[in-house]
Amino acid sequence: MKPVFLVLLAACGGAPEAPPAAPPPAEAPAAFEAYASNPAEIQYSPCVQCHGAHGEGRPELLAPRIGQLDASYVRSQLLAFRAQQRGSHPDHVAAHPMSAVARGLPDAAIELLAPFVQDLHPAPQPPGPRVAGGAGAYAPCAACHGRDALGNPELQAPALLHQDPAYLERQLKAYRDGTRGGRDGAPMDQVMAAQAARLGDARIATLVRHIASLRPPLPPPDDPEVTRPAQEGLDAFADIYAVATHPRCLNCHPDGDAPLQGDDSHPHIYGITRFSPLKGVHCSQCHAPSAAGDGLAPMPPADSLWSMPPRAMTFQNRTPAQLCAQLTDPAVNGGRGLAGLAHHIEADHLLITSWHSGRQPPPISHAELVERFEVWGEAGGPCPQETSAD
Ligand code: HEC
Ligand code: HEC
Ligand code: HEC
Ligand code: HEC
Repeated sequence: MKPVFLVLLAACGGAPEAPPAAPPPAEAPAAFEAYASNPAEIQYSPCVQCHGAHGEGRPELLAPRIGQLDASYVRSQLLAFRAQQRGSHPDHVAAHPMSAVARGLPDAAIELLAPFVQDLHPAPQPPGPRVAGGAGAYAPCAACHGRDALGNPELQAPALLHQDPAYLERQLKAYRDGTRGGRDGAPMDQVMAAQAARLGDARIATLVRHIASLRPPLPPPDDPEVTRPAQEGLDAFADIYAVATHPRCLNCHPDGDAPLQGDDSHPHIYGITRFSPLKGVHCSQCHAPSAAGDGLAPMPPADSLWSMPPRAMTFQNRTPAQLCAQLTDPAVNGGRGLAGLAHHIEADHLLITSWHSGRQPPPISHAELVERFEVWGEAGGPCPQETSAD
């Protein structure tokens, strides 16, 4: 299986004999230029496939949430990964991909990345149920990580709130077992390792569930000015639905783990799935950034890399009522609110490729879609009723 795959990869990656030209892409949209001119965003683009566009993390790739982590912590971790003080222990296999990424990062890139990651705003996680004995178990941790687990930059202790529980559990076990913060570990990791030295598995499970149950300070309410009648909003949403369920969009937002292809939305060739990057097969190996937009695979714009959205952002097999509920759910949409969604629609470089892949574009233009999102938002984001006809 592997050799065949490598042959395919080679065929794709080399591809000097590209198939007959797709029509040249229209003039680069302004959003590409704005994107390409932000050097920090360019540095972050290879991170997207594992950590997500908003730093929300990809639990299925074992990649943690990093958005909003304090810049000094992000910097210290990147330096520790690069110096092989973190992530290179042979038994801490989950961290090896990150360790490999960091090894190639120059100082200048780390300086751009640290504040950029801090400014990313992933959606808050809805709190889990309270745990018996959780507060008592967590009390010693609060001294450094804070009662609400929001972290304390002065002690260099990172925020733990909203972090993927499975990631926290892996880290606590790694500290305990000496695969993070062991003899060759970073100094602050050794501080933390001392805290974890005597934690049993049951205690770790309690701690992690307690952290997941903590309630963050409430975010400001999402209260857009409603300036349009609901009916205009519903009409706009019907157009949005038609675009979202068009193959150009749906193929990246499938109801499953494999991206889809073509106008009949068949599963992606070569058995590609959202887990492929974990096995070292990155979307960008074939969907190479290129201004030309030609070649075998649809090309993302220069300086960006393809990735799949989180599983919760499925557009396939959704009724209009379901898709609407999903888009307005803060737990799914990155806490963007309606105005933030409209901005995403306007500026997201992956989404814009849908009109520049040389394939049949969505039913309305990108500018029209932006306008429809604005109208929908100005009407307060009304959702259609579920009907049996859907
Ligand atoms: C191939 C997937 C992958 C890519 C690409 C990747 N990371 Fe990671 N990253 C991970 C994994 C997995 C971990 C968790 C390592 C561990 O278990 O210790 C991680 C951990 C981190 C951490 C530590 C988070 C914490 O809470 O301690 C930071 C910071 C980070 N990555 C930043 C980046 C940045 C910046 C980039 C882009 C330059 C990047 N990563 C690219 C997979 C990746
Ligand atoms: C003396 C201060 C201190 C105490 C007490 C402490 N920690 Fe930490 N913890 C830290 C520091 C500092 C780091 C960051 C280490 C680094 O820079 O790599 C850390 C890192 C972590 C991480 C890794 C976070 C990530 O994003 O990778 C977890 C998980 C964690 N601590 C959980 C706990 C828990 C649970 C307790 C209580 C049992 C606890 N800590 C007690 C200082 C502390
Ligand atoms: C081994 C090469 C390769 C890899 C790796 C790869 N792709 Fe593809 N992809 C292709 C090719 C070739 C096509 C065009 C196939 C066709 O339609 O003829 C394609 C098409 C697609 C399409 C369909 C576009 C459309 O509108 O029809 C999507 C979506 C897609 N890929 C997403 C991804 C994602 C996401 C990843 C990473 C998880 C990925 N691909 C990894 C080669 C690859
Ligand atoms: C190459 C793959 C790709 C294509 C093509 C694509 N998307 Fe996405 N989309 C993503 C990724 C990855 C995310 C998650 C990153 C983020 O939240 O910024 C996302 C997120 C979104 C979101 C936010 C979802 C939410 O619930 O908050 C919307 C809305 C969206 N896409 C709409 C579209 C539309 C409309 C199209 C077609 C015009 C499209 N996408 C085409 C990859 C793609």
